[in-house]
Amino acid sequence: SPPTDEIIAIIDAHKALEGPLLPILHALQDTFDHIPQAAGPLICDALNISRAELHGVISFYHDFRDAPAGRHVLKICRAEACQAVGGKALAEETLAKLGLDWHGTTPGGAVTIEPVYCLGLCACAPAAMVDDRVIGRMDSAKMQTLLEKVGA
Ligand code: FES
Repeated sequence: SPPTDEIIAIIDAHKALEGPLLPILHALQDTFDHIPQAAGPLICDALNISRAELHGVISFYHDFRDAPAGRHVLKICRAEACQAVGGKALAEETLAKLGLDWHGTTPGGAVTIEPVYCLGLCACAPAAMVDDRVIGRMDSAKMQTLLEKVGA
């Protein structure tokens, strides 16, 4: 598990900022690829906020994870333009196929599925992104090929 010293150093480096919580969470996620469990109580103490407040913020921002991601991250666009042209059904089908909920990771750790809210590819909706690559005009067949490629 991530070293407490490193977590504390990250909190200390940002806690004097105005509105320190988001910078702290971003720095933790950049460093550990997720917000380590152990960081929760330390952040609450340092910023004098409740666990419920912290949890609310972490779950509001879709970029934060509470567990390390799989080897690949697949983001499916859930914003309006994509939803309207089959994105919703495609997302549901993909989650069901993998037996996951949003933010879930396949048992072997191959892929984590995350929602995203517009990838700027609305003209080629529905859109998805795998690692750093955006893909337009997604459909079931393309998704299946993609899942096979990432080993899901
Ligand atoms: Fe999906 Fe813009 S709404 S890419």
